[in-house]
Amino acid sequence: MKTDPAEKIRSLREQIRRHDELYYVQNAPEISDRKYDELFGELKKLEQQNPLLITPDSPTQRVSERPIEGFGQVTHSLPMLSIDNTYNADELRAFDERIAKGLGTKDYCYAVELKIDGLAVSLRYEKGRLVLGATRGDGTTGDNVTNNIRTIRAIPLSLGDNAPAVLEVRGEVYMPKKAFAQLNEQREQQGQALFANPRNAAAGSLKLLDAKTTSQRKLAFFAYAIGQTNGTFAKTHLEGLEKLKKFGLPVNPHIKKAANIDEVIKICDKWEIERFKLDYQIDGMVIKVNNLNQRDILGTTGRSPRWCISYKFPAEQAQTKILSIDVQVGKTGILTPVANFEPVQLAGTTVKRASLHNFDEVQRLDVCVGDTVIIEKAGEIIPQVIEVKKDLRPKTAKQFLPPVICPECGSNVQKDENGVYIRCISSNCPAQLKEKLRYFAGRDQMDIENLGPAIIDQLVDKKIVKDFADLYKLDVNTLAELDRMADKSAWNIVDGIEKSKSQSLDRLIAALGIRHVGIQNGEILAEHFGSIDAIKKATVEELTTIDQIGPVLAESICQYFGDDDNIKIIDKLVAAGINPEYKKTKQSDALAGKTFVVTGTLEKFSRTEIEKAIKQNGGKVSSSVSKKTDYVLAGAEAGSKFDKANQLGVKVINEGEFLEMVKT
Ligand code: IVH
Repeated sequence: MKTDPAEKIRSLREQIRRHDELYYVQNAPEISDRKYDELFGELKKLEQQNPLLITPDSPTQRVSERPIEGFGQVTHSLPMLSIDNTYNADELRAFDERIAKGLGTKDYCYAVELKIDGLAVSLRYEKGRLVLGATRGDGTTGDNVTNNIRTIRAIPLSLGDNAPAVLEVRGEVYMPKKAFAQLNEQREQQGQALFANPRNAAAGSLKLLDAKTTSQRKLAFFAYAIGQTNGTFAKTHLEGLEKLKKFGLPVNPHIKKAANIDEVIKICDKWEIERFKLDYQIDGMVIKVNNLNQRDILGTTGRSPRWCISYKFPAEQAQTKILSIDVQVGKTGILTPVANFEPVQLAGTTVKRASLHNFDEVQRLDVCVGDTVIIEKAGEIIPQVIEVKKDLRPKTAKQFLPPVICPECGSNVQKDENGVYIRCISSNCPAQLKEKLRYFAGRDQMDIENLGPAIIDQLVDKKIVKDFADLYKLDVNTLAELDRMADKSAWNIVDGIEKSKSQSLDRLIAALGIRHVGIQNGEILAEHFGSIDAIKKATVEELTTIDQIGPVLAESICQYFGDDDNIKIIDKLVAAGINPEYKKTKQSDALAGKTFVVTGTLEKFSRTEIEKAIKQNGGKVSSSVSKKTDYVLAGAEAGSKFDKANQLGVKVINEGEFLEMVKT
């Protein structure tokens, strides 16, 4: 029995590090999670009793408790380059010809790797200690995300005594599919916006200012390259990766050596099929010349090295059968046809349904119940029907006709004048009410935290909530009686509802769900009228005198406030204490005369919020990058707009720099 706490602490740390490595690097855990937690708990307790023995590289010190204000910028010691893409075998062969020509020999080989769909980071170890974690950013400078990087258990905080004085490791932070599914499920329950794919989720999680939240996001990491280091670390890429593995860094187990381009193509073809078996998402393969001297000979062109290429997989398609078509009712009564399929595997998930968008689309595709169809995932996540296999149509196939009554409440429906949409025209349709409440509580409107869709469904089905105003009558006792509702959740919802009472007038106007009135028009109305009471009295003539308001919008607003039922709800909201006065939101002229284009996912702002912030500070927002653009504000996973900005030499800034610009 060891009694010296220092010795015991040292031993526990060593054991925990070993098990981290077995789990994340070797993929061969030796102990259960429970046992691991026990070791961890014991270490934590001993450290609490002996705080002087706590060191920054202890496994207990991954999460820093205090959120930070913003990320600092890091200039990469060596630039983080990007890779050119290929899409087929011919392009891969052309790449190989360029390599052979560049080297003047056929004596070379490749390393073939999975292209992990996450975000690139650079980890800097000095004397074996992790001192810096940075995002790729624009390749030259990135964000200092060390606090968040430290929370990723797959990333060792120390490499041991044999590590070089300086070692920069580059690799991909990613979110395993399972963690992604769990995170989105949880967000859906809480009524938060879903992440479109694991890559966005990983990027969003790594760019949080509160490392505690990042630590709960179950991020993982694979090392795939070496940045700055002192001395010669390795002569070949594969040898370097082996060494990284020995230092306890996770390296993807599927990396293969290929003697020639035929072997490369074979490996790529194999993974194109087998990729869905992996528990993380890959979007292609990366092919690299293995010998580092040969890489030097080949060199770099602009943004990407000549010795490396990616092979991108095509969008996955699947064939399935339409079993039935449902009609869903939206918040303004729009009826949307949704196809139910024979479940089919598509790009790693089982797909059972897809929106057919509207009845004109049903007609255009000429889709019948019983048809065999080809589906594809748009943006890797939303399944779409792209083609009907007419030659496979069975005799029993049934044409799908647009509904003549609302499938939810049986009321009459109407086709929009000159439009494609068919609507339920009832004002008492429960399906519409559910959607309206979801929108009312949404992040860009009243932002009622914790009031998720499942809860709204129950509240409407049980007739507890008949309109927006009824939300403000809910108490903990009523909520606690709903299915699957813990006391704590009930309290959280009541708390969220209470907080929403102080939302601004523009948000309240948007939340009402008036046709054509979103957050932007909500703001225009709020600014012009100053109170709900004044808008209520406005006539079409008066409304159309406002610059940005045309006759259709004016008509819609008057129609809304001309309806007694709506007025009753508004009166009830006012009685519940929700009657904001307009507060002038113009904050500064800091961005006067400047045009911004926003791209990628931002951490602190939704798209609506950032556009509002730009305008409130005197700036303009545009949707496409041109020479006239002053700044491109790029968030995680910025796409072609980012590239365009670089091409045109338009300044690219990140969220931190934007906040700096508008700081008063
Ligand atoms: S190598 C100069 N290897 O793909 C080469 N990149 O489109 C540096 N990626 O920014 C990158 N898996 O985020 C490399 N096995 C892999 C990769 C990989 C994913 C990402 C990385 C990079 C992007 C390029």
